[in-house]
Amino acid sequence: METKKRLNRLYSKPDNEDILFFLSTIDPKSIKELYSFAGKVREDYTGKMIHLRGLIEFSNYCSRSCHYCGLNKENKKITRFRLSKEEIVKIAIEASENGYKTIVLQSGEDNNYSLEDYIYIIKNIKLNTDIAITLAIGEKTFKEYKILRENGADRYLLKHETSDPKLYKKLNPGMHLQYRINSLKELKRLEFQVGSGIMLGLPGQTLESIVDDILLFKQLNLDMIGCGPFISHPETSLAGLPSGDPELAYRVLAINRIVTRDANLPFTTALSVLTKGQALPFSSEFFKGANVLMPKLTPIKYQKLYDIYPNPNRYNGNSKEFIRQIDLDLSESGYKVSTTLGHRGSEKILL
Ligand code: 5AD
Repeated sequence: METKKRLNRLYSKPDNEDILFFLSTIDPKSIKELYSFAGKVREDYTGKMIHLRGLIEFSNYCSRSCHYCGLNKENKKITRFRLSKEEIVKIAIEASENGYKTIVLQSGEDNNYSLEDYIYIIKNIKLNTDIAITLAIGEKTFKEYKILRENGADRYLLKHETSDPKLYKKLNPGMHLQYRINSLKELKRLEFQVGSGIMLGLPGQTLESIVDDILLFKQLNLDMIGCGPFISHPETSLAGLPSGDPELAYRVLAINRIVTRDANLPFTTALSVLTKGQALPFSSEFFKGANVLMPKLTPIKYQKLYDIYPNPNRYNGNSKEFIRQIDLDLSESGYKVSTTLGHRGSEKILL
């Protein structure tokens, strides 16, 4: 079938067959058309703006044993660290002063922080800045999600990693895929902007299951979707396995853009590690459909300890110069760093 027709169907009524086609085709012309269509959808729906989400990795303690992740509690070789509430607030205020409009608070599933601690952090950031706060702190109870929302958290990231129930069970001992999915629904109901995502190239993962993941993103009406290649960590049971194929990650990015249209799609850190090996991509990679970058604001000394997967890139993203440089690099392709909060849907320009 003609690629154009397939792309139009993917855009208007995505189904298994078309998604599978674009995940697997080796026809260079179809691949080129996929990327250029994704680029056009991105421009139509999100303009030429790139949102920066400043990432604060504040604790590498984790109570889980996920097989792919270097922070899993079985890893005794890692030095654990935890930032105080005050330190987190300070970094967030600096980020705001430097021009960030969103910070992402990310950690392992660390039960050491109480609900009151999170409320303190959110309230103090909100009191001193006008930035959006994204939480990526793992599973909580529905009641806790509600309290976090009521106290000012704007967005919540909770990746389901794979929608294949057997694979999920194997990779995430003691965890339940259905709880994650129910959490995503509940977070939507609470009017968080909600994000999920998967890893690509997990051992045992099929293209058919990735089709299901993409349809699930659409069905849940997610506001943010981050998909990156799996990179094996030497201190996990998956040590030595091959990494995910960056080309597959590009395909998923492009398909997600076409299927969801205006979702915020980051160029994931794992993808930049596997592509140019540089901290952040500045040019043509964006044309695959991404519109978000997540620079690290984590203090340098902690970055190497936040060792989810091997990542040689360290840099301090928390400065005005850093943002200025990204803006300059982007301007070569006609893009700009956005100065708005960048909630999904706030920048529709054609509709
Ligand atoms: N390779 C790539 N990405 C990983 N993540 C966790 N472990 C790995 C790995 N080995 C991703 C997961 C998680 C996010 C913080 O990092 O998607 O949600």
